[in-house]
Amino acid sequence: MTKPKIITTGGAGYIGSHTAVALQEAGFEVVLMDNLVNSSADVIHRIGRITGKEPLLELVDLCDEQATKNCFSKHSDAVGIIHFAALKAVGESVAQPTRYYRNNLVSMLHVLEAMHQHNIPNLIFSSSATVYGQPDVLPVTEQTPLQPAASPYGQTKQMNEVMIRDAVFAGELKRAISLRYFNPVGAHPTAIIGELPLGIPNNLMPFITQTAIGIRKELAVFGGDYDTIDGTAVRDYIHVMDLAEAHLGALQYQLNGSQSESYDVINLGTGLGSTVLEVIQSFEKVTGINLNYRIVDRRPGDVAAIYANVDKAARVLHWHTQRDLDEMTRSAWAWEKYARETLGL
Ligand code: NAD
Ligand code: UFG
Repeated sequence: MTKPKIITTGGAGYIGSHTAVALQEAGFEVVLMDNLVNSSADVIHRIGRITGKEPLLELVDLCDEQATKNCFSKHSDAVGIIHFAALKAVGESVAQPTRYYRNNLVSMLHVLEAMHQHNIPNLIFSSSATVYGQPDVLPVTEQTPLQPAASPYGQTKQMNEVMIRDAVFAGELKRAISLRYFNPVGAHPTAIIGELPLGIPNNLMPFITQTAIGIRKELAVFGGDYDTIDGTAVRDYIHVMDLAEAHLGALQYQLNGSQSESYDVINLGTGLGSTVLEVIQSFEKVTGINLNYRIVDRRPGDVAAIYANVDKAARVLHWHTQRDLDEMTRSAWAWEKYARETLGL
């Protein structure tokens, strides 16, 4: 029997590679469309080592209209698309707004046009908790009003959501779900795939693991004077494998006809907030390493605290997170060691 085909744009990246594993293990055929601007082709071999089958990688820049059309024509039998492809560094987006608007908006447009042309019915989109800004009430539900975006990156996520919603309401696209991720961290339990940011990491977890392995001298903890239990900022960290499994749940929700709203929005987090110091304490506990860190000034643009209400994900996707903060820090560290010591990355 042929396996249902899923296209993952940006599928060679961090979240896409973990989702490819979950999709293949659930019996889907996965086609990755990626231009490798922030990833590397060898990930397909590593996905193959985990699952026993390498997914097909189509090298395509989704901003190239003709190349995108050609690629979708080859795979017009896909039953769904998961659109991960985007540039995602908040600070870089402030410095290079036109590059971010071009990449994240034009690629989205081409994906929507291709889906319309080939009647591919199901879209899942990687949105972000950044669309909420600093909400007045915590935890945030999907009904929490969106705040003006704090960066061009955040702006592209808000605009992408609107583009998808309008395409669905006009009937150009049958159904879509925007998944608003909170803070994805951690790695596959084999440590064969994980997050490998280029250059100096912006995000907390890779900065912690790179400091522990000696690539960075010291972790700067941005802000010790927030109104939180220990003065450091609160986020909802979610294990990337839980996130990958949520994509599977969302896809099954679409494919089995349960999606009642043609356009839907779902938060993906654990529902728990952790401070920066709690993440450091978890890392030190599971690894036995004393991390070199220092509390410095707040980082401009950071919110004090945000975490998700995840009742909707539980209700409609029948999905619950399985992995706790210690599992996140443990797997992130295992991947950092494997990537440096075994893969030589
Ligand atoms: P990533 O950079 O590892 O993966 C994104 C992939 O998209 C990369 O492989 C990159 O090469 C590809 N890509 C970018 N532009 C492309 C283009 N024009 N054509 C083809 N491929 C292109 O990032 P990730 O962490 O896996 O994030 C996946 C998605 O989730 C992104 O949309 C991101 O904005 C969103 N997201 C991520 C986080 C996070 O903290 N990681 C949080 C919220 C939302
Ligand atoms: N932090 C530090 N030191 C660092 C890096 C981060 O103290 O070196 C702190 C930050 O100040 C923040 C917390 O750790 O309080 C988490 O910061 P991240 O940069 O890891 O994550 P953010 O919450 O700022 O942003 C992330 C993604 C965005 C996404 C957002 C919401 O980077 O793309 O989650 O989903 F939009």
